[in-house]
Amino acid sequence: MNKAVTARAHTNIALIKYWGKKNSELIIPTTSSLSLTLDKFYTDTTVFFDDQLEQDELFLNNTMIKNKALTKTSEFLDLVRQMAGIKAYANITSVNHVPTAAGLASSASGFAALAAASSKAAGLDLNRKDLSRLARRGSGSASRSIFGGFTEWIAGEDDLTSYAHPIQENVTMDIQMLTVVLDGSPKKIGSRQGMQHAIATSPFYDTWVAESAVDLVAMKHAITNNDFQALGELAEHNALQMHSLNFTAKPAFTYFNGDTLNILNLIQDLRHQGIQAYATMDAGPNVKIISQSADTQIISNAIKNNFPSALVEIAKPGPGISYL
Ligand code: DP6
Repeated sequence: MNKAVTARAHTNIALIKYWGKKNSELIIPTTSSLSLTLDKFYTDTTVFFDDQLEQDELFLNNTMIKNKALTKTSEFLDLVRQMAGIKAYANITSVNHVPTAAGLASSASGFAALAAASSKAAGLDLNRKDLSRLARRGSGSASRSIFGGFTEWIAGEDDLTSYAHPIQENVTMDIQMLTVVLDGSPKKIGSRQGMQHAIATSPFYDTWVAESAVDLVAMKHAITNNDFQALGELAEHNALQMHSLNFTAKPAFTYFNGDTLNILNLIQDLRHQGIQAYATMDAGPNVKIISQSADTQIISNAIKNNFPSALVEIAKPGPGISYL
């Protein structure tokens, strides 16, 4: 103990989405999900347990944080303290290399980096499966950011059986996510609240659970067969199903705005021109375009011509957790 440990975790974007929990305290999802970890966006977190501290202190992007984020972080560290049998509070310094825009999943990289840095700083030596279980307790999608490339989070039934594992860490397919950021404002409905509302009120929730299992099997085939088109079609279909739950909740809500739909239309137009481009959206209005490197220019130009204010970032498959 008493040493500072720094870990780096990359964000991931789900191709088969997680949208609902069967156990909210342990964060056990209703469905398994599958994601791609990205190279471009990541979080670096340093943790140091210090007997002199009277409470945990958190610095996020060089700013001291006192609000809900500190409470969430402290609750997470309580789990680590319990596992390690220590009492000391921690100093946590976290830097997000993720645009602070909605829907870019900084909680995934954030809790994955925190799980890795805090467990090691507390003297624990967890394997990647147990790190994934721990990260899951902070944020479900964080369980997948322990691994690189294509990763599946097995829903499981309880704390021991719900964890992520790699499907293909060194991605062989030519695949990238072209992120189009049009709206950087924070989301109005957090994913935690949104997914519980969808479970509780959408009449299609059971259908989602059944369909998502079918999509997952097909997605694994697409990855094994290096079939980019099948992967893209499935990912877009699965994302639209997830968002349909929100449209059919009572009261209905959506993360989409007008530009989300405009970009979805543009992607369809591109496909009619023979460009393979597919969309996925998370708990925010911004669209990630699943595409291949040869089409980067043509897709970026189409976006810039239609949405001059859009910020376009290109991310490729990225690695799992590392210690710096
Ligand atoms: C739409 O992992 O942020 O990005 O477990 O409540 O912290 P909590 O939720 P979170 O939800 C992510 C939802 C999603 C889809 C996905 O990443 O699978």
